[in-house]
Amino acid sequence: MAKYYITTPIYYVNAKPHIGSAYTSIAADVLARYRRQLGDDVFFLMGTAEHGSKMAQSAEKVGKTPQEFVDEMSQQFEQAWETLNISHDDFLRTTQPRHEEAVKLFFEKLKESGTIYEADYEGLYCVGHEAFMKEDELTPDGLCPDHKTKPELVKERNWFFKLSSYQDKLVELITSGELDIQPEGRKNEVLAFIQRGLEDIAISRRNVKWAIPLPWDDSQTIYVWLDELFNYCSAIGYGKDDALFKKWWPADLHLVGKDIIKFHCIIWPALLLAIGEAVPKKVFAHGFFTVDGQKMSKTLGNVVDPVELAQEYGSDVVRYFLLRDFSFGNDADFSHTRMKERYNSDLANGLGNLVSRTLNMVEKYFDGKEVPASVVLPEEVVQFAKDADGFVEALAFSKALTNMWKMVAWADELIEEYKPWELVKKGEVEKAQEVIAQAVSVLRLINDRIAPFMPQAHEKFTAILSAKPLKKPSEPLFARKD
Ligand code: MSP
Repeated sequence: MAKYYITTPIYYVNAKPHIGSAYTSIAADVLARYRRQLGDDVFFLMGTAEHGSKMAQSAEKVGKTPQEFVDEMSQQFEQAWETLNISHDDFLRTTQPRHEEAVKLFFEKLKESGTIYEADYEGLYCVGHEAFMKEDELTPDGLCPDHKTKPELVKERNWFFKLSSYQDKLVELITSGELDIQPEGRKNEVLAFIQRGLEDIAISRRNVKWAIPLPWDDSQTIYVWLDELFNYCSAIGYGKDDALFKKWWPADLHLVGKDIIKFHCIIWPALLLAIGEAVPKKVFAHGFFTVDGQKMSKTLGNVVDPVELAQEYGSDVVRYFLLRDFSFGNDADFSHTRMKERYNSDLANGLGNLVSRTLNMVEKYFDGKEVPASVVLPEEVVQFAKDADGFVEALAFSKALTNMWKMVAWADELIEEYKPWELVKKGEVEKAQEVIAQAVSVLRLINDRIAPFMPQAHEKFTAILSAKPLKKPSEPLFARKD
């Protein structure tokens, strides 16, 4: 049995989940469910990033202690993932002792490895990014282009990691595919960035109190990004349960958004090399959502809440829509109108209608007799199923779903072409039953494939398709929305 360790980024809890974080989570969930279906031994990790100035400031704004604040907010994430039917195996919070202890061990290891040193530093720190920024990354009036805030000028004595000495090794790992970065465009972006020259990075902070103390100097705390990246190792027993760690590490896939690719494809593998651990096998970066053509932001008030969407449409529909309507690696624009259109065309009129019309015919023309469990189907429709599987493996979710819906269209056309009701009128009952049995078989193939994408619909379909005798569902699976 192959092992498959998959992770999402751990989300900042300063604001509640939005469709961006839901997107990564749903995609990872589809892959985890798909692998479990194949029989792999899967470990699917999620969590929340709870340290740093950003969290402390957000807590202060609402008159809470950082701990109270992160406790409440982290719960909102867990609830959102439950609403969206995310099947993670573990949920790591960076304020948990199991994580903090592992991070301290990691820092001790770094110190022993001789890859860190102390030096004075002066730089511009953006709290929104929890990262230092270069002047040429700012707007002409000196603001962070993403957060529209002025970065703080920080002058302090910090610990540094010798990132610069990993330049050649990183290029080698990436170009050889040992660290596979996808999509290709992102890989080239990372390589170009490395080839422009890497600088050492500060890994501790003097004035950030809401963070893990540096084990050998408690006047300093650990830079939150290193604390966060290490979640991928602390969750699987780093320094505590060697057998467990050995079983899961390295990660098979880190799924991330395009904005955090440098942390995952440059800093993270270099740190792992420094402590003598293997680098992740693959990092895949997806694009960013805008909403009706605009950047999603609290100020604009256009942040789309995935939980509200799930309350309106059901979680399966949110899952389906986000993965069907957008090509996973690219940027995308979300629109409520589009979501309703897709729901009606693909789910209510498409799959839902096919299920009800097929089972209607079974009821009418099989006379209580059983429909053969599976019949031989033409190569053409079997190929759609194979292609759908291949596209899931390649994280081309939209193409995978398109292929499943080609099967829906195939079954619809089959019914339209042979018109079983007319065959019955002509006395060709057996021929009519053959056509209907083919449609049922295609439905079974579709049902297996939608399982990772729409787990609730899959459960309902399975009940319908395994009933004896087969009966038309008592209510539509996806009622049309007007
Ligand atoms: N805490 C870090 C991750 C540490 S992982 C070791 C972080 N958190 S975040 O909450 O800001 O972002 C989490 C993820 O959400 C990132 O993958 C980011 O790309 C994604 N998204 C944030 N806004 C998004 C959109 N508008 N659209 C799509 N994804 C977006 O970064």
